[in-house]
Amino acid sequence: ASAEKGGFASFMEKEIFDQPAAVADTLLGRSDAYGHLTLDELRISPEELASVTKIVVLACGTSAYAGSVAKYAIENWCRIPVEVELSHEFRYRDPIVDSNTLVVSISQSGETMDTLMAVRYAKEQGAKILSICNTNGSTIPRESDAVLYTHAGPEIAVASTKAFLAQITATYLLGLYLAQLRGNLFTGQIKDILADLGKIPAKIQEILDRAEEIKSLARSMQDTESVLFLGRHVGYPVAMEGALKLKEIAYIHAEGFAAGELKHGPIALIDEGKPVFVVVPSPRGRDSLHSKVVSNIQEVRARGAKTLVIAENGDEAVREFAEFLFYVPETPTLLMPLLATVPLQLFACELATVKGLDVDQPRNLAKSVTVE
Ligand code: AGP
Repeated sequence: ASAEKGGFASFMEKEIFDQPAAVADTLLGRSDAYGHLTLDELRISPEELASVTKIVVLACGTSAYAGSVAKYAIENWCRIPVEVELSHEFRYRDPIVDSNTLVVSISQSGETMDTLMAVRYAKEQGAKILSICNTNGSTIPRESDAVLYTHAGPEIAVASTKAFLAQITATYLLGLYLAQLRGNLFTGQIKDILADLGKIPAKIQEILDRAEEIKSLARSMQDTESVLFLGRHVGYPVAMEGALKLKEIAYIHAEGFAAGELKHGPIALIDEGKPVFVVVPSPRGRDSLHSKVVSNIQEVRARGAKTLVIAENGDEAVREFAEFLFYVPETPTLLMPLLATVPLQLFACELATVKGLDVDQPRNLAKSVTVE
């Protein structure tokens, strides 16, 4: 087994280190040098895809967080409303879907019963179903009208890592393809975004080369009982995913929040020494999101929080308020989750490892949840 893990302490750690390849392989062969996407593998006609008026993403757990990230990008690029719904909530509320709705299911395994049942329900209502899946020939893709496979390779650890980054990559390809079909973006714009996506694997590798920085933080926090995660915009689902990883494998209470929500309640949780991860938007981004999140760091710090900051390379504004600071390489805001998630995965993995837990097979969990 240790050979299969490639010298890593767990499959999860190996899979975190597989991520440059997972993203690169998912991008591979799906566009040409001119910025033209060729998703011929989709079995829904370009005309049908171009005419959708609404997208509904159905998924559970980490896959649903990939959907939440995708919402920001697809709405921005395609101007199509995107709803993201947990599969198990979807069909019990008489949802509004019709033949102009594109349902995008996201599932690593392709066997998650909640998602399968939601897909079947949406199909009955006349929606077109496109599944994003990591497992060839599994049930959900077989029952879908179209499939876009993520090429992360088999994911063994129960906690999803490389499938998550591959799912975000695949939803981005889908978003760019829809923008191309519908004429929402110019070819040059699509080409630029594809070029930025193409640089992501090397940037993930840069983060992995500095894994020890975040691993030593994790080792110093073995006795932690609760950790909060804050993020905004695409950093919000990243925060949720960081919290889920820690719960799943390290059995530490963790909660993710939208940073703007802090003053509406969660700030009451902050007391002396409370660890709070903050995913900071790029200072180069539009709007004033960066300064607002920097204010959030100051607010929690003033109340005693131990501030653990994930920020973009060169962001000097956060330095004085960060007890721990991890820089990720520069990238356009929408692509940031592909980088900022990685240190949070490494943190959870190392913390569970030093606690002596079974990182790959956490208690009470199954890799694929095939019951409702
Ligand atoms: C992720 O770490 C989880 N173990 C879990 O949330 C998972 O993402 C969820 O069960 C969905 O699985 P799927 O992608 O195979 O459908």
